[in-house]
Amino acid sequence: MSVVVLISGRGSNLQAMLDAGIPVSAVISSTAGAGGLAVAERRGIPTSVVEHRRFATREAFEAALAGEIDRYAPRLVALAGFMRVLTPGFVARYAGRLVNIHPSLLPEFPGLDTHTRALAAGAKRHGCTVHFVTAELDHGPIIAQASVPVQPGDTADMLAARVLGEEHRIYPRAVRWFLDGLLVIEDGKVRVKGGHAQLVDSDRA
Ligand code: GRF
Repeated sequence: MSVVVLISGRGSNLQAMLDAGIPVSAVISSTAGAGGLAVAERRGIPTSVVEHRRFATREAFEAALAGEIDRYAPRLVALAGFMRVLTPGFVARYAGRLVNIHPSLLPEFPGLDTHTRALAAGAKRHGCTVHFVTAELDHGPIIAQASVPVQPGDTADMLAARVLGEEHRIYPRAVRWFLDGLLVIEDGKVRVKGGHAQLVDSDRA
């Protein structure tokens, strides 16, 4: 029933999962000293660091990463601010049990700097997406989304903070659905058994 969470930084999504009672068996970081490692350690959750820069190739890095993950035989691997692009081989190894949270309403704004790009595009709503990971970056069947309004005068930081609050709501919820066996993929689309809402519209006027 366990989840292994992969991080690179602050770990606020990890914290949200723990606060929601998600059974996290280990946290693995691609960065030494990542804030999320301390979050895990405070709760007595095993941590390890697999630093990409210590490996000559992406494949060698991922082999070490997979070795760490597989020690815990997790039911689910959750990327939570994990800042490495994964190869198709790695993604295939965890097919159907690898999820990610991305700070945009996919398929809009895959990649980096999503909040700045949403502002530059004049988007009126923005948000976040929990999705299964496939070989194509920031694609894959969408499990849940939350949207927030873009307010006049927003900076990227203000928008990021508003979206982050929603990330913390939907990621634990989506992981729980997975662990409860409620997610069904049909025609590349995710349905949740039991009629749970896959879209949260925050502050919709
Ligand atoms: C979040 O915005 C997440 O959507 C993105 O990276 C950030 C990670 O934040 N993939 P945290 O480490 O969970 O606080």
